[in-house]
Amino acid sequence: RASVSLPRLRDMVARGEKVTMLTAYDATFARIIDDAGVDVLLVGDSLGNVIQGETSTLPVTLEHMAYHTQCVRQGRRSAWLVADMPFGSYEASPQQALASAVALMRAGAQMVKLEGAGPMVETVRFLVERGIPVCAHIGLTPQRVHALGGFRVQGRDDAAAAILKAEAAALAEAGADMIVLELVPSALARDITLAHPRMITIGIGAGAGTAGQVLVMHDLLGITSGKRPRFVRDFTRVAGTEADAPGLSIAQAVQAYVAAVKDGSFPDETQHGY
Ligand code: KIV
Ligand code: NA
Repeated sequence: RASVSLPRLRDMVARGEKVTMLTAYDATFARIIDDAGVDVLLVGDSLGNVIQGETSTLPVTLEHMAYHTQCVRQGRRSAWLVADMPFGSYEASPQQALASAVALMRAGAQMVKLEGAGPMVETVRFLVERGIPVCAHIGLTPQRVHALGGFRVQGRDDAAAAILKAEAAALAEAGADMIVLELVPSALARDITLAHPRMITIGIGAGAGTAGQVLVMHDLLGITSGKRPRFVRDFTRVAGTEADAPGLSIAQAVQAYVAAVKDGSFPDETQHGY
């Protein structure tokens, strides 16, 4: 497979082909996920939860992110590699964000992701103008879990939806090439996607109307502890089989995820949307 690049991702979106993104934190899983045909690897700060066993992403540091980005880069073959800027590594100033982005790019990232809009819009512009591709992230932004009052759907009423639309527009204008929309109503995610054809929208708990989808790998494999969010599907389960029936291998489960996103059967708006 030829290397995935921003122009290739844009071509996919223009053709109406869905973009697949999946988190990866180490070389072995990066290779399996890449070989299964996933377009974008995300070294997510969700590693705070699934690798470190924390209850939020707040304890994750830039050093942790750089280390896992290096691990993932070793297993990557052709997927596009995005790394999360962790809590506290970019909010102070555009200069702080640039220094953190440089550390992640040196570790192997091709694009960095940061949460929020408002003051982050100028930070996105600052990075983009300096040649660093940026993925934005709005809706439920886990680094703000305490300010938001928990992990809940965002943009439910008209006023909140209008704010999210304005945030997306500002981030697109600032040059964000990609944006994660997390835990927002399906109709809102669809509207944002249609309004900004040049910004690749990636949904998680955001319905089927986005340009692409992302899941945390451990959720896809059904091995996350605790309550499974509504938007998650365990792709190791063969559709229609009993819970204790033989499951799919990791590689097959990732292939099933890719196939389901590409053919539009995942997410299912009634089952996985809001
Ligand atoms: O950290 C992460 O895994 C993420 C995705 C859920 C979008 O930010
Ligand atoms: Na994240």
